[in-house]
Amino acid sequence: MLGPPGVGKGTQGRRLAAEYGVALISTGEILREAVAHGTPLGLEARRQMEAGRLVDDTVMIGLVRERTAEQDARGGFVLDGFPRTVPQAEALDAMLAERGWGIDAVLHLEVSEDALVRRLQGRRECPVCKRAYNADGAPAADGRHCDDHPTTELQTRPDDREEAVRQRFAEYRAKTEPLVDYYRMTGRLRPVPGLGTVDGVFAALRREAARGLQAPRTA
Ligand code: AP5
Repeated sequence: MLGPPGVGKGTQGRRLAAEYGVALISTGEILREAVAHGTPLGLEARRQMEAGRLVDDTVMIGLVRERTAEQDARGGFVLDGFPRTVPQAEALDAMLAERGWGIDAVLHLEVSEDALVRRLQGRRECPVCKRAYNADGAPAADGRHCDDHPTTELQTRPDDREEAVRQRFAEYRAKTEPLVDYYRMTGRLRPVPGLGTVDGVFAALRREAARGLQAPRTA
């Protein structure tokens, strides 16, 4: 899943992984867990994340190399939030090729920055299952608690502060947007409009994912 902050990678990645019965690997979520537990990775990543900056490529590549080798990822996976730089994309292709694997489709969700800044202001997350809600378009049933954990209050993410959001978009434009061309040139890019209902976007993603699974790999 490729796309700017708040475009719906987590929301849709979770559904796609369930649909295909594969693992969801969200690098943002792995890092937030590490921060919450105060692990060495978390201590290293925390300052970068809260400022809206990317974590070092070497750290991220090592993390994904280990996570994709775990048992639950052997039958395939949806990657949310990785790769985010050209060196990460090159490392991913190389590490998958070593295992005889490849990327079937890069689902590129597109929404304007203005709409996403508004979305991120309204995001509330369940601290237990990490499901994201939004007052505007993806609300929780009672507006305050997770639908699946009815006693758990939804929370705001520290990097959804206005200053951090601006920095995340700057990082996206400078370092992640070049990946659109990287994947377009190898025939793997599947653009999908990300505005509309969560169900509507999911239906479009499923269509594109199915096309990706049928297309011959060119890299
Ligand atoms: P990460 O967690 O990946 O953050 P992000 O890319 O900024 O994306 P978000 O999680 O904010 O948004 P999303 O696209 O998942 O949207 P969501 O589904 O939540 O990474 C966080 C940080 O970790 C990075 O800034 C960086 O520091 C570090 N990091 C992670 N990976 C890294 C890497 N590879 N390299 C280096 N550093 C890395 O939806 C957003 C909101 O919209 C929610 O409220 C949701 O309910 C709502 N919503 C979703 N779809 C719809 C819809 N169709 N209509 C209305 N509302 C909707």
